[in-house]
Amino acid sequence: MNKQLEVKLKKIVGQIHRVNVLDEQGCTSEVRQIITDNGSYLLKSSFEEKYREWLINEAQVLEKLNNSNQIPVPIYYGIIEERDSSHLIMSFENGITLSSALKKAKNKTEKKSLIRSFGHLLYCLHETNIIESLNRKNDWLVEQLIKAENYVESGQTEGSLELLQQLKLNKPLSLEQTMIHGDCTTDNVLVLDGEVRLFIDVAGMTVGDPRYDESLAISSFVNNEEYKSAFYEGYKRYKVSNEEFQYFDEGLYEFF
Ligand SMILES: Nc1ncnc2c1ncn2[C@@H]1O[C@H](COP(=O)(O)OP(=O)(O)O)[C@@H](O)[C@H]1O
Ligand SMILES: [Mg+2]
Repeated sequence: MNKQLEVKLKKIVGQIHRVNVLDEQGCTSEVRQIITDNGSYLLKSSFEEKYREWLINEAQVLEKLNNSNQIPVPIYYGIIEERDSSHLIMSFENGITLSSALKKAKNKTEKKSLIRSFGHLLYCLHETNIIESLNRKNDWLVEQLIKAENYVESGQTEGSLELLQQLKLNKPLSLEQTMIHGDCTTDNVLVLDGEVRLFIDVAGMTVGDPRYDESLAISSFVNNEEYKSAFYEGYKRYKVSNEEFQYFDEGLYEFF
């Protein structure tokens, strides 16, 4: 870590004893555990323009959520902006991602129990009252499609213009909007003591279409009926149709 960053970081976290690069890294960032006198922090650093913007959003979302205390997420401590990078500081949370927990699970029963718990956490999120500071004026899906178009034009996505045109022409009928995570894969929730307890990577948390979360959530076991029914034992809300799943998981998600 460069000297300048270290100085700024110390102002937020105090004397630093050790820095551990985490085994599990994300796709948009570099994550390190910072051990200090006061405890343990997570330093999440991004370097590319698109991901730096997401990181700043994540900081704003965490700050607002910490004030409302209704959704389980890490505690926000600060953001540091440097010339070529941005750095978010939050609480280091014990636990492993659901993706790792599922890989480590010894048997089907354990896996189903984890997936049920994931369904329940997402159910609670979608049933949470709208947090006004995260509410929006414009339709979430319309805004996502505009963002996707900007990414296509600036070459910041693998999604194609043809796919985008299809998504614009075939929007699903709208549904009541709820609080959503916005990138609700098994990589972005943490498991502690056999339960899915906490959302991480919350840059996209806002008021939007719950079918997006649901589709991304079931994506890694969508062809396994047993796992899918375990999910819906916890997620006692609307079930996405195959068409909706395709629209969100294989369509919209391609651009993000
Ligand atoms: N607050 C936290 N406490 C502990 N580990 C975390 C925390 N936030 C993220 N991680 C770890 O860092 C990894 C990457 O974080 P994530 O926010 O998902 O980054 P990306 O946006 O690059 O996907 C996660 O998979 C998780 O293992
Ligand atoms: Mg992630």
